[in-house]
Amino acid sequence: MKLDDVQIDGPMATLGEVPAGRKTDGARTCVKPRRLMKGPRMTADVGRMHQFNPEMTDLILEFVRDRLSLEETPVDGLGVRSELHAALDGLMTDEGRPAEEVLGLYVDQIADTILSADSPRFWAFIPAAPTKAALLFDMVVSAASLQGCSWLEAAGAVAAENQALRVMMDAAGLPQSAGGVFVSGGSAGNLSALVVARDTARRKRAAAGIPDGRLRVLVSDQAHSSIKNALNIVAMDAVVIPTATGRLDAEALATVTDEQLDDVVAIVATAGTTNAGIVDDLESVSAFARSRGIWMHVDAAYGGAGLLASSVRHLYAGIENADSIVMDPHKWWFAPFDCAALMYREPRLARAVHTQDASYLDVIHESDDDFNPSDLAYHLTRRARGLALWFSLAVNGLDAYREAVEHSIAMAGFASQVITESDHLELVREPGLSVVLFRRPGWGVAEYNSWAQRLLSEQIAFVAHSSWRGEPVGRLVFLHPNTTEAMVREVLETLR
Ligand SMILES: Cc1ncc(COP(=O)(O)O)c(C=O)c1O
Repeated sequence: MKLDDVQIDGPMATLGEVPAGRKTDGARTCVKPRRLMKGPRMTADVGRMHQFNPEMTDLILEFVRDRLSLEETPVDGLGVRSELHAALDGLMTDEGRPAEEVLGLYVDQIADTILSADSPRFWAFIPAAPTKAALLFDMVVSAASLQGCSWLEAAGAVAAENQALRVMMDAAGLPQSAGGVFVSGGSAGNLSALVVARDTARRKRAAAGIPDGRLRVLVSDQAHSSIKNALNIVAMDAVVIPTATGRLDAEALATVTDEQLDDVVAIVATAGTTNAGIVDDLESVSAFARSRGIWMHVDAAYGGAGLLASSVRHLYAGIENADSIVMDPHKWWFAPFDCAALMYREPRLARAVHTQDASYLDVIHESDDDFNPSDLAYHLTRRARGLALWFSLAVNGLDAYREAVEHSIAMAGFASQVITESDHLELVREPGLSVVLFRRPGWGVAEYNSWAQRLLSEQIAFVAHSSWRGEPVGRLVFLHPNTTEAMVREVLETLR
């Protein structure tokens, strides 16, 4: 006899309780005795984690309000592994701890060990500078657990995200038929775009009777590291084009030989190289791509927002011919992490490659009216991460964005002027967008590093060295609209 078959009569019924409202059949009951039920016992407060807790809510909202109201976000500092381990050790228990205690631990031990990319003094790598509106609306996305997977599940989120994408596609001059999706970052965007480039080429080649084989992609020697990784993942080889100036242009393209073009299916151009802010000659790249019938991908993860700045807009001529473009709102479009826009000239090509096929998903593909965001990149479940940008664009208006982007470019111009006029520093090259490369004659990596450490320990700025043509150089990247000329002067003075 299986336990599941046990039914009880008379006195044995005391072993199990008949829940209120449950029907009984005379002396017999169909309710199983509790002792014999499968699985864990339901406790009365199983839903306690999901109950509204006003104290915890106030605690967190107060913290968030304080963070948002900081006049200047501090740069913050580095973490010490042993200290962090000691602070976190034993935190997780079966019973849990008061929210106050855990938030206190975060504030006292963790927060200061996370460099604030949104500080106006964070000038390393590529910083971030989310608007207050974007940060606040990101909380709405979290609090309402908003996903943006399919039109069926999240029509409003998809429509609003598409509106934000349209702003970016208009800035680039992509046709009305273009479409896209917000993914987690430029790396994810580049990867998803290159998969579409590869599979679209494969289909064309198969139709033309060309045997399947290893495919190749043209990239400049300044392409972002994520391109190399993506090509590795999608099993394509990079054909690296050397650039004399760092810019992929007609001259550099002219060095590509017919032999190198064998099995090439795409070319990747960069609109704002990470290291130096260089925008490739997109007009020449697009003419090259069209004449060879290959896919043109533009990695504008950092530099895409420069499209908003009339002072540099001319540099982007030709971007409108791209087959796919990546722009990261979490960089220069002033959105919170993690948000990258992946845009396609012909989104149907992406859909053909990325749509996941499963019987339980058929329902989201029954209507052909709208593309599902999940069909346009390598992902399925996704946070409606574009809504923070959408809200901020709508609230602040595009002029505020244009001014903020121009400000970063102006800061780079100001820094380069101070460097040029100084007697202790040299400009390595004219600034590209908002990136400045400079040298302190005689300095190597060790000196740049100790300078950076000093700036960080004094909370003056966060900077990181780089290299240019093999030479170690200082590098400053400006994104935050609250970065001032006084800050720039202060930092450059410390190089004396
Ligand atoms: C030009 C370029 N492409 C791609 C990336 C990678 O983007 P993410 O860090 O969002 O993955 C970066 C990051 O700085 C970048 O500057």
